Amino acid sequence: MNIILDYITLFFIAIYSYLEALIKLFIPEKRKSVSGDIVLITGAAHGIGRLTALEFAKLQSILVLWDINKDGIEETAEQCRKLGAKAFTYVVDCSKRNEIYAAAEKVKTTVGDVDILINNAGVVFGVEFLNLQDHQIEKTFEVNILAHFWTTKSFLPAMMKKNRGHIATVASVCGHLGLTYLVDYCASKFGAVGFHECLTVELASLGKDGIKTSCLCPVFVTTGFVNTPSTRLWPVLTPEYVAKSFVNGIVTNKTMIILPPSVNTYLTLSKFLPQRVISRISEMQDVQFGTKLRSITKKD
Ligand SMILES: NC(=O)c1ccc[n+]([C@@H]2O[C@H](COP(=O)([O-])OP(=O)(O)OC[C@H]3O[C@@H](n4cnc5c(N)ncnc54)[C@H](O)[C@@H]3O)[C@@H](O)[C@H]2O)c1
Ligand SMILES: *[C@@H]1O[C@H](CO)[C@@H](O)[C@H](O)[C@H]1NC(C)=O
Repeated sequence: MNIILDYITLFFIAIYSYLEALIKLFIPEKRKSVSGDIVLITGAAHGIGRLTALEFAKLQSILVLWDINKDGIEETAEQCRKLGAKAFTYVVDCSKRNEIYAAAEKVKTTVGDVDILINNAGVVFGVEFLNLQDHQIEKTFEVNILAHFWTTKSFLPAMMKKNRGHIATVASVCGHLGLTYLVDYCASKFGAVGFHECLTVELASLGKDGIKTSCLCPVFVTTGFVNTPSTRLWPVLTPEYVAKSFVNGIVTNKTMIILPPSVNTYLTLSKFLPQRVISRISEMQDVQFGTKLRSITKKD
């Protein structure tokens, strides 16, 4: 197509999207039914993963729960069953490609094709860059981003055939900006955001409009993932609020779920701010977590 025509079309698509967003502010959002859908969640033994499983259980989905923590997923499954949902558990170490591939095959033969894949398992060390051990850096990347490739390679083919499905990525606000003592973590979460954004445009250009993607990016959450987190400019969120907003975003086909939503303004602004201002804001934030880690890294 002529490039001028392309730009004109683009202009109208933009106007249409803004108008659509404006109208959607006033009408209640349509929610897709996930009843009977097979929902696979990694890292489902605790925190955001467990609570997300319970939200899907309330919607009568079939849960497939993966984690390295056996007792934890058994407990999550029990709670899902109490809500009337079917739940299957698999002990999987998401830092191991072969374990992921083997478990994925078992899921396909014993439960069925996954409709909604939620890559949630994550690790964090929270150590000053030069104190990070090589094996810690590798673990961060294996669990927080490489695992997404192995699970998606396993479950996307069936979704492609049916042109139906949903792939959700749990990243973090750390996937949009850097925070002190989290170089490996932020880099892996930027990777997860990149994974999500690329997959979204690739599926669209392949015409797979029935396969949706969502990316969850919260600030700190009180799951114990990091010990006693605190920041001066942002709230610390409860896992219940995060899981509810996440599932709400998935059933309404939201591509980016930033929590709290107000942080989005800062993320947009920060693209235009001078580096000196960004560094100053980072100091003002005074991010603190895990008192032990803090004492190793504190500048005295
Ligand atoms: N808690 C926060 O402050 C926060 C903020 C933003 C994003 N997140 C992200 O949310 C996700 C869930 O974290 P959470 O806060 O619920 O933490 P959590 O510690 O409560 O849960 C993480 C789960 O992942 C599991 N897990 C860890 N390594 C694994 C592995 N190798 N294989 C399989 N499972 C593994 C753990 O056993 C645990 O059940 C993570 O990806 C995290 O990066 C957390
Ligand atoms: C979400 O996308 C699916 C697949 O294209 C579609 O069937 C559903 O109606 C959409 N739901 C909402 C609420 O937009």
